[in-house]
Amino acid sequence: MQAIVTRRQGWKAQLALQEVAAPGEPGPKEVLVQVQAASVNPKDWKLNLPMARLTQPVLGKRQRPLFGDDLAGTVVAVGDQVTDLAIGDAVYGMDMRLRTASLAEQTLIHHQCVARKPASLSFTQAAAMPLAGLTALQGLRKGQVKAGSQVLIIGASGGVGHFAVQIAKALGAHVTGVCSARNLGFVQEMGADAVIDYTAGDYRQSAGPFDLVFDVTSFESPRSCAALLAPGGWFISTGGDAFSMLATPLYRLGGKNAASLVVKPWRQDLEALTALVEAGTLRPVIESEFAFVDSDQAYQRSRSGRCRGKVVIRVGSDVHPVD
Ligand SMILES: NC(=O)c1ccc[n+]([C@@H]2O[C@H](COP(=O)([O-])OP(=O)(O)OC[C@H]3O[C@@H](n4cnc5c(N)ncnc54)[C@H](OP(=O)(O)O)[C@@H]3O)[C@@H](O)[C@H]2O)c1
Repeated sequence: MQAIVTRRQGWKAQLALQEVAAPGEPGPKEVLVQVQAASVNPKDWKLNLPMARLTQPVLGKRQRPLFGDDLAGTVVAVGDQVTDLAIGDAVYGMDMRLRTASLAEQTLIHHQCVARKPASLSFTQAAAMPLAGLTALQGLRKGQVKAGSQVLIIGASGGVGHFAVQIAKALGAHVTGVCSARNLGFVQEMGADAVIDYTAGDYRQSAGPFDLVFDVTSFESPRSCAALLAPGGWFISTGGDAFSMLATPLYRLGGKNAASLVVKPWRQDLEALTALVEAGTLRPVIESEFAFVDSDQAYQRSRSGRCRGKVVIRVGSDVHPVD
């Protein structure tokens, strides 16, 4: 089958389409998915690409596809303990284990990491949702958002942010989104009640107070956002780098409500996203779509840090392998 692997070019690793071994039969609790679409997340180039660079010299010709967590596709085989999914089911989901990857024509995934695809979404739309949508949902839940909560979402225009705005609104919160001037209209379109242009000055001393500051940029900390928080308010970070991931929870020692998030690939939360989609309160926004063979360009687009919504890749038969 075709899959995306790294090619070493000098010090630079580049992604390319290559023939690799098929993943084989599913384990007892796995399903084999014919992948139709995948999406790109910053984790792919922050963690998976460096991991590939490290393991490639060891793996050599046995190099494996390591890229992509989000997928949407069709179940083509099920493990013998899987009773809740059947061959032919259209599913979407994510899995962060390196053994599987969504940038491959077929992949194995634990059955609890996928849910039935919302009927109203295409495969590309569904593939845009799992990792970023679950991060938004789980972050808002960790921040104890409820009807009437004042919520600030820093990074409201990106993959996680545009889902967080919509989900917080669906939970009944009053939502303020922080984004740059060019994205103010987009974030309002996602449902934000108020927007702040982060390029127009330091809002951190003047805005608020908020019951939750949800930082999906990882540029902020409980200290830098202290003046934004209401008494007892939460600071939640998606911890986009190791320092912020480790440092944020340390503020709890000082009595602050602060936490970093590690997204969990839970089916019940995918089903919660599906329910919001079906209720008409959540929709994925795809800012750019790439063919399988152009996966490297999709990564470059994500690396720009300027994405409005999600970058998706069509995985499938319209591909032209490079060799
Ligand atoms: N811990 C976890 O489990 C987990 C899960 C998912 C994501 N993450 C992390 O969360 C972060 C966000 O992920 P993502 O998928 O949403 O990324 P993304 O889609 O690449 O985010 C890009 C967006 O960030 C905005 N942005 C950049 N600088 C900003 C700033 N100073 N203030 C406000 N907005 C700013 C950009 O808007 P402008 O172009 O207008 O600046 C752009 O719309 C990443 O660091 C990722 O690694 C962690």
